[in-house]
Amino acid sequence: MCGIIGILGDHQAAPIMVDALKRLEYRGYDSAGIATVQDGTLDRRRAVGKLANLADLLVTDPLAGRAGIGHTRWATHGAPTVANAHPHRAGRVAVVHNGIIENFAALRRELSVGGDGDWESQTDTETIVRLCEHHLSQGKSPQDAAFATIDRLEGAYALCFLFDGEDDLLVCARAGSPLAIGHGEGEMFVGSDAIALGPLTDRMTYLEEGDRAVVTRAGARIWDGRGRQTSRDVQRIPLDSQRIEKGGHRHYMAKEIHEQPQTISDVLDAYLDGDRVAPPEAVDFAALSRLTIVACGTAHIAGTVAKYWFEQLARLPVECDIASEYRYRDPVIAADGAVMVVSQSGETADTLAAMRHATGKAARILSVVNVPTSSIARECDVAFPIHAGVEVGVASTKAFVNQLTVLLCLAVLAARQRGAIDAAREAEIVGDIRRLPGLVSQSLAVEEACADLSGWLAEASDILFLGRGAMYPLAQEGALKLKEISYIHAEAYASGELKHGPIALVDKTVPIVVLAPHDALFEKSISNMQEVMAREGQVLLVTDKSGAEAGGGGVRATLTMPACPPLLAPILYAVPAQLLAYHTAVHKGTDVDQPRNLAKSVTVE
Ligand code: AGP
Repeated sequence: MCGIIGILGDHQAAPIMVDALKRLEYRGYDSAGIATVQDGTLDRRRAVGKLANLADLLVTDPLAGRAGIGHTRWATHGAPTVANAHPHRAGRVAVVHNGIIENFAALRRELSVGGDGDWESQTDTETIVRLCEHHLSQGKSPQDAAFATIDRLEGAYALCFLFDGEDDLLVCARAGSPLAIGHGEGEMFVGSDAIALGPLTDRMTYLEEGDRAVVTRAGARIWDGRGRQTSRDVQRIPLDSQRIEKGGHRHYMAKEIHEQPQTISDVLDAYLDGDRVAPPEAVDFAALSRLTIVACGTAHIAGTVAKYWFEQLARLPVECDIASEYRYRDPVIAADGAVMVVSQSGETADTLAAMRHATGKAARILSVVNVPTSSIARECDVAFPIHAGVEVGVASTKAFVNQLTVLLCLAVLAARQRGAIDAAREAEIVGDIRRLPGLVSQSLAVEEACADLSGWLAEASDILFLGRGAMYPLAQEGALKLKEISYIHAEAYASGELKHGPIALVDKTVPIVVLAPHDALFEKSISNMQEVMAREGQVLLVTDKSGAEAGGGGVRATLTMPACPPLLAPILYAVPAQLLAYHTAVHKGTDVDQPRNLAKSVTVE
């Protein structure tokens, strides 16, 4: 999962491309590079590490030219080195690539016949430029050479080719990975998404699956997956750059945690009408026999919490699947059921593939998505936007609580449509939901206590999170957040499951975070907590005031949350989970917004 950019401009391309790559760094940040054509000559610059290293290189070794391509990388094949960084070049052609070429080994062998092939890198991408140069050497035009090359590729790719001697030509293609074309005044742009192109133009064309395009400053000609010339809509995508600033916070993650009361409010404005749920899109849950929720990472955890709500409130059977497993287990897809995918980016390859697998088999394909122009939002039957705004921090926070808030509203709608609740009960629940922004604001008050605990947590090599009911997936989210940004090994267990094995991990060096609002399962949680403390486990209890009074004796520390209706607790308790991870990571000095080995949008399988 990388970020790519292409420009045919009337200004020097290098600084504009570096700026665009900055906005794409959330896609990968282990190395970067650009190539341009100046006076017909193709040249490139590449650097390992953050984009700033490339920017520094361009100060000492500038690259002129108004036509260019650029790339920021998340390594799939070959370590982050200059040789493996993009753009890759062979003779007269350079290419930037996001995705994985699955038949690259066979292509390498084919292109190495009669020698070792003299490969510069370990990447799958280098086979693309070598194949294209092969076609050029056979006398094909740049367009024909690129198309002949694309014909041979298997796997996922968003590609952009630049050619020696051509400063008014880009050839690009998409299969699996997203790609957009930006239309300027006498300038044209190619980019992984709207975020990259936003400050350059608000007129964009999204390439569909299998599309290829030949771009000049005069415009773009597009061919579909069957080789037929076609046209694609030019959409106006106004981008609110304000939301991409840190707003005075040290990290995007911190800003996004503190934005949550407002982002949740935005969901309520869009999904509630008086004391009823009125979603922006129509769906009839009464017609469904079951719901399958499919997603990855934090989005999957949001789906797991929603299972509790849909089943408890609406009596709608729900199964949750990890997207990377879903289609390979050949699932039984109910023709009168719905498949709902949840995704912040809307471009996660596993989730997109799972959605495509279910398309045409399930009665409805629903999505809960943050990026309205994403492939998932455009390809599903009904997309429910979560209104979280641009989320830059790799560790998802506001998108998670907004996913939960939208899913809770949909569960209430399903309960009404299936006759499981009456208007009075709906009004009561909606009344509770309307308290969320205020309750989340109050929950942020635990920040100082989380910062105070971060030194202790940062010393640990293993941390356990425990929860019962819907607090179990929340415990999973707490563990995931901590792993992602502090690099501390953390696991989550259903509290009752501990004594069936994991309790063997407990000793005085292991912090145990117990998420236990004072609800119907509180007593059970406290007994499990006692079992841990009996073995010197160091407990951090996260509960409300009455819970602390009822069960807080003997714990190492308590985080006191506002009291709330049980239905809302998974949303509220996300806040201390996020803040504990954030402050522990800050204490350890890790790169909070761009943690090692991760990327914000995982566009490869
Ligand atoms: C969450 O903090 C992670 N960034 C990751 O687990 C993420 O939730 C997962 O990759 C799914 O992404 P999506 O919501 O964009 O599909």
